[in-house]
Amino acid sequence: MIIVLIGPPGAGKGTQAETLVNKYGFVKISTGDALRAEIRADSAIGRKAKSLVEAGKLVPDDILFEIIKVNLEANKDRDILLDGYPRNVKQAQTLQSLSEAFPVKAVVHLSVNRSELIARLSGRRVCENCQTPYHILSKPPKVNGYCDKCGEKVIQRADDQEDKISVRLRVYEEETMPVLQYYREKGLCFDIEGNKEPTHVTQDIESIINKFI
Ligand code: AP5
Repeated sequence: MIIVLIGPPGAGKGTQAETLVNKYGFVKISTGDALRAEIRADSAIGRKAKSLVEAGKLVPDDILFEIIKVNLEANKDRDILLDGYPRNVKQAQTLQSLSEAFPVKAVVHLSVNRSELIARLSGRRVCENCQTPYHILSKPPKVNGYCDKCGEKVIQRADDQEDKISVRLRVYEEETMPVLQYYREKGLCFDIEGNKEPTHVTQDIESIINKFI
């Protein structure tokens, strides 16, 4: 089965996904992480995606379809946590077309107000190797500039600069919010208040996931 985590940039999807993977043993598929890995590898996909990702715009659906198909098929027998896909209605329809093998059981929507999102994203830092998220104020790494988990460098993402943040928030409103309506109509969307402490957000998400496992 698939659980989808959806929410605006900075809502805490990556942070929550990390906790949920550890607790439930889900396979996490993050399309943002996958695209950044392609960019680092300078692959054909990475070269097509780089300028769009760095500008905060969506990468074309056909590229995302390739990524999602490969990752789903590689994890056929596992419970999957999807972070960052689907991001528009077309992608939601594509995922629906795969529902026999990969049924979406719940779509967990994290909502967070705009000023908090901007504060989180502008202060965010990530491990350039394993992508673990940090925050300069609320969650700094133990050793300044280096990841607690793998010891590699912690950096600021190109799309976390302020002008890019506003593009991403606009893209979310225009392209991703209709996905919520798509899943509401199927009775699959569960709203979570994401403005709380991470551990409280996790508890709220768990109360939903526990209904399906
Ligand atoms: P992606 O990597 O998916 O980025 P995003 O959706 O913009 O989400 P973020 O990773 O920025 O935020 P998050 O919600 O994971 O928050 P986090 O936990 O890190 O996508 C990047 C790009 O790839 C897209 O813009 C697009 O170009 C492309 N792309 C990806 N998928 C695509 C698709 N399907 N189609 C087309 N293009 C696609 O937390 C943020 C910060 O807040 C951290 O510092 C964290 O420590 C802190 N924090 C987290 N939770 C809390 C809390 N509860 N309280 C206080 N601080 C918190």
